[in-house]
Amino acid sequence: MEIKKVSLVYFSATNVSKKYAVAMGKALDKEMVEYDFTLPADRDPAKAPSFGPDDFVILSLPIYGGRVPTICLEYLNALKGDNTPCVVVGTYGNRDFDDTVVEMEDLMTEKGFVVVGGAAVVGRHSFSDEIAGSRPNEEDLAGAAEFIKLVAAKDGKALPKGTIPGNRPYKEKGGSMPLGPSTTDDCINCKLCAKKCPNGVISLENPKELAKDPTECLRCHRCVTICPKHAKYFAGEGYKAMVDRCIAGFAKPDKENKYFM
Ligand SMILES: Cc1cc2nc3c(=O)[nH]c(=O)nc-3n(C[C@H](O)[C@H](O)[C@H](O)COP(=O)(O)O)c2cc1C
Repeated sequence: MEIKKVSLVYFSATNVSKKYAVAMGKALDKEMVEYDFTLPADRDPAKAPSFGPDDFVILSLPIYGGRVPTICLEYLNALKGDNTPCVVVGTYGNRDFDDTVVEMEDLMTEKGFVVVGGAAVVGRHSFSDEIAGSRPNEEDLAGAAEFIKLVAAKDGKALPKGTIPGNRPYKEKGGSMPLGPSTTDDCINCKLCAKKCPNGVISLENPKELAKDPTECLRCHRCVTICPKHAKYFAGEGYKAMVDRCIAGFAKPDKENKYFM
């Protein structure tokens, strides 16, 4: 297929989805534009881009509870394609990608894109370094680059339904734990966590406090990973037990990335 411009569209709280998208985009060696819609200010549906048939879109998203994160849906639904070739990439923390990549395929098809490839790739789990803590590694990113070059060399036809694994209807979304981040006294009030929270949950005035109800926290762990003083953490017996279950359940063995084309 003839590609003039590559557009990366991603939501990425801890940079895993971004790393895969950038590795793929760079491998195509064309003009490249990034639409990072992780922050609320960049998620205005009125400003969502439209694409034409000469564009090539790489959509990269984290998998939350085996589904597309709810916070992404309004913006994704505002995207417009015009027979635009698109590759859908779901990044997940070594448990499972469940129905997310087919959900992405359906969503983009409905918006006028032609889904020519898909991927389910592993990255560090937001909750712990003990789960895929070193992913994506160099081999992962090289594999992603190789995959996208193969897809770009194809005829640009939509993947036959069923090429990407997953169920329709998709699995039910689970409930969320009403828990926001806590802060240690090491906080220096730099406000980075508040400025970078994907849901504006941390108070800008006093970043030790929440600006919204704790049910609004995605537990995406962006604040925990970006705090220069390591002052943010999630507390509580229920939370700790959940993370321990995740580590015991799927930290090992490291899963392989899967590519569909
Ligand atoms: C609320 C939440 C739910 C998650 N659910 C899953 C899941 O169902 N399966 C899985 O393997 N990883 C799951 N993860 C881990 C993320 O998908 C994974 O860490 C991803 O690579 C993060 O990407 P990002 O840095 O681009 O946001 C979840 C993470 C969060 C925060």
